[in-house]
Amino acid sequence: MSETSTANIGVVGLAVMGSNLARNLASREGNTVAVYNRSPERTRLLTGEHPEAGFVASETIEDFVASLQKPRTAIIMVQAGRGTDAVIEALTALFEPGDIIVDGGNADFHDTIRREKAVSATGVNFVGAGISGGEEGALKGPSIMPGGSVEAYKTLGPILESIAAVVDGVPCVTHVGTDGAGHFVKMIHNGIEYADMQLIAEAYDLLRKVGGHSPAAIADVFTEWNSGDLESYLIEITAEVLRQVDAATGKPFVDIVLDEAGSKGTGVWTVQNALDLGVPVGGIAEAVFARAVSSHPEQRVPFRAIVDARPEIAVVGHTFQDDVRQALYASKVVAYAQGFDAIIAGAEKYGWNVDKGAIATIWRGGCIIRAQFLNRIVDAYANDPSIPTLLVDPYFAKAVADGEAAWRRIVSTAALSGIPVPGFASALSYFDSLASERLPAALVQGQRDFFGAHTYKRVDRPGTFHTLWSGDRSEVESAGSSH
Ligand code: 6PG
Repeated sequence: MSETSTANIGVVGLAVMGSNLARNLASREGNTVAVYNRSPERTRLLTGEHPEAGFVASETIEDFVASLQKPRTAIIMVQAGRGTDAVIEALTALFEPGDIIVDGGNADFHDTIRREKAVSATGVNFVGAGISGGEEGALKGPSIMPGGSVEAYKTLGPILESIAAVVDGVPCVTHVGTDGAGHFVKMIHNGIEYADMQLIAEAYDLLRKVGGHSPAAIADVFTEWNSGDLESYLIEITAEVLRQVDAATGKPFVDIVLDEAGSKGTGVWTVQNALDLGVPVGGIAEAVFARAVSSHPEQRVPFRAIVDARPEIAVVGHTFQDDVRQALYASKVVAYAQGFDAIIAGAEKYGWNVDKGAIATIWRGGCIIRAQFLNRIVDAYANDPSIPTLLVDPYFAKAVADGEAAWRRIVSTAALSGIPVPGFASALSYFDSLASERLPAALVQGQRDFFGAHTYKRVDRPGTFHTLWSGDRSEVESAGSSH
């Protein structure tokens, strides 16, 4: 048997993220941390490398459970999927009512809803918690998005607050909502992260190919932008990546990296769920598809071979660099507005009471999308929690309006120069779609009614109508049908 039950928190799964989280927990006043890993070598490595942490180490899950004070609280940090299910099953069998199991991986929130229902039926609490900030965040202070019951958060909250990043004295953690709400919001965080990264990449591509700047010079531009509205972790690290020189060749690092982007899947989940929710997240979708396009050399190579000539790169004036900055900011506002729309729709569908301002607040630090920009979103929801879209918030409306002309110049310059800007362009089209008095959706309704009798509504009177296209083309009122 391991030592008596002395640990107030435990971590299962001691790969880098789990080890760093355990070290972070152990570094905080009042925490005694139990640790367990299926293969004991990792446990021994962690305790050997960090004796100062005072870990309560166990080599069986039974001993691990026995080392936890009640209400036993364990954070699972293993690969999402079957591995997580196996640990949940083992802990549920050993835990007692009132104990708390936390899944800290990037789990699919549907799995979390299922797991929470099954585990809580035994009296044990189950919490799906999104943990953002990568390995460094886990060690120094992540942004944490726990779901699960209010009851569980009473015990878990103070522990998570002891390790989260802190901004303006506020820990970057909040009880997001019940069952799968935490993993849902983490998924949206990742979707927004994809969009943000894609927009930054498009800005780089324009400055490189149209502006003719070197990666090092563009790094300086991003560093300059990082002192203004665009300040963010992603802008900061982009400058670092662009400044990096490949030791083997002496070339800019970005030039020796194969231009085929990978994905662990959370961005895909965001788009899939937004489609189900009927929420346009064009910025996130274009980012996901841009990674997919880049990863199809079997199409890119033969297509490039048949494309005769690429357009001349447009000659641009002295405002070009700042135009790119303004287009980047306006497109970023659209992407974040769409992301928060998805949070609102998800909360409605799954019955979560998600505080959007609190989500923006905990995203100000620790997570990958951390940025001053999120303070503006906090302000927007503080001014009007039921705002129909962030784009009508006075601050954001002005920022986008101020950048609109530059945004249009950039998208047209990109099109004329043959530079793909799916993120910038889709954001601008989303802006124009919301702003248009009439959309061609009217024609789509006519087409649908023509071939499928799917009916349409009229602008001049209530009701649902159908035209007898294969008959005398007269219009009949329909008793009500699919929209
Ligand atoms: C975070 C990150 C992290 C994500 C990796 C991989 O919030 O710490 O979003 O959770 O899994 O960044 O993301 P992709 O491989 O999908 O780009």
